[in-house]
Formats: sequence, C-alpha cells, structure tokens
Amino acid sequence: MIIAGNWKMNPNQAAANALLEAFAAHRNIFQPDCQALCFPPACYYAMAAQKLAGTAMQWGAQNCHQEQAGAYTGEISAQMIADMGGRWVIIGHSERRQYFGETDNLIMEKIDAARAAGLRPILCVGEPEEVRLKGGQDDFVQGQMAASLENIIKMSLADQKTALEKLVIAYEPVWAIGTGKVASLQNIAEMHQGLCDKLIALFGAGLPEKNVPILYGGSVNSQNAADILAIDKVSGALVGGASLEADGFFAIYQAAIENRPN
Ligand code: PGA
Repeated sequence: MIIAGNWKMNPNQAAANALLEAFAAHRNIFQPDCQALCFPPACYYAMAAQKLAGTAMQWGAQNCHQEQAGAYTGEISAQMIADMGGRWVIIGHSERRQYFGETDNLIMEKIDAARAAGLRPILCVGEPEEVRLKGGQDDFVQGQMAASLENIIKMSLADQKTALEKLVIAYEPVWAIGTGKVASLQNIAEMHQGLCDKLIALFGAGLPEKNVPILYGGSVNSQNAADILAIDKVSGALVGGASLEADGFFAIYQAAIENRPN
C-alpha cells in the first residue's frame, strides 16, 4: 500500500511546517510495508528533507522538467529533486495536462527524466467527465498510459523489469478531483482491472513479480478511504485536499494499514 499526499499549491509556510512536524512527531505510525508519501511545493523541499529525516515517510515533487539542465526559467529538474532528498515525482497530473498543456509525449519524456535521476514516477491517468458520459473511459485512460510508457515498451525485458519496478500508476478521474464526487466502488474496481489487464498486455513477462501498484485518486478522505482501499486492485491512494490536515492523512493511512495484503 502507498498513501501519497499531493499538497498542490498549498499550504502557507507556517502550515507546511506544522504538517511536517506532525508527521515527524507521529513517525511511529508509519510501517515499512505501507509507504507514506508527501508532495510539497518546491519551496518546501528543504523543509521536508529536514523534518522527515529519520522517519519512514518519504517526499517527492509534483512535477519535474524533462531536460537535465539548461535555460528553462522557472523549472526544476528531476536530478535537483533527487539531490534535495526527494525520492518520488508525480507526472502527468490532470491539472498539469489541463492548465499547462502537458501531452502524453511530454509525460513520457518526464518519466524518462525521473528514471534517469533515480526518482520513482507516479504516472497519473484519468478521463474527463465528457469521456465517461460517452462510455469511452477505458480506451481513454489505457491509451494515456500506453502512450506515456512507449519508451519502456521498447526496452529489453530486463530493462523493462527494472523500470517497471519503480513505476506507480494513479487512476484519477478528472471529474472526481477536488469535487467531492468520488467514483463508485464498482467504477474504481473496473478501471483498475482494465489498467492491470493493459499492463499485462503491454509487458507480460516484463512485469515485476508484485505488479505495478495502481493508486486511486479523486476526493479520497478519511470517510471513504477504507472502502476504496479494500478493492482488490487498488494499491493505495493519491490524496489532495484531505492530505493537508495531519489527522485526515493519518486516518487514511490507518485504513491502508488495515487493508494491507497478507
Ligand atoms: P483531491 O485531489 O483528493 O483533492 O480530489 C486528488 C489529486 O488531485 O491528486
């Protein structure tokens, strides 16, 4: 299980400090087989690295640039994140796709950059409401995933295994993000099964033994987490709003502990 808190462009410095201090103070909650992650804005990387040192919670970035270095004003490379102590990066979040024009091809390049820097990428996929209303959600999200993994598809079996061991997928229906409209348990189960089947179709023998974890994201909170995390192919949650409050995050984490595979 993986419980990941995506802070987005939140909170202010004092609240970020308090949140990280709460995680550090409750470090004994975190279990080795249930990974807790937070994704603060870049201005708090140093704070996260310092406060989370010696805890089992890891942190990552919400985005990275596809190039290693250069004249890209305002951008941050995957290596810079790794150098600060970050271990993870969210790639292709629907807000990046929607507001910053990120395409599947760019997202593929960012996954490569993350891998080259030793970061674990969390690749986000998810259908907008109009796609679901027409019943096209399966092809849409599986298409996003396959297009972003094209470079991994071309690798040798051994390299594929190494790359896929680090990869995490997050299924986040766009209409469920920040809306309080969580997808039904049946919808989630079907979409995760579809993504699992697609991974098998794409990689087969190249898949790592434990498969690629698929997280659910979109209005997860302390009330609905237990039911969502109990679904067979759900390996964790990517949590936005509810991750900005320590107690809420701990409650979701607790639900994950209770749903760990035996
Ligand atoms: P939400 O965001 O939990 O606030 O819906 C999830 C996300 O965008 O990752």
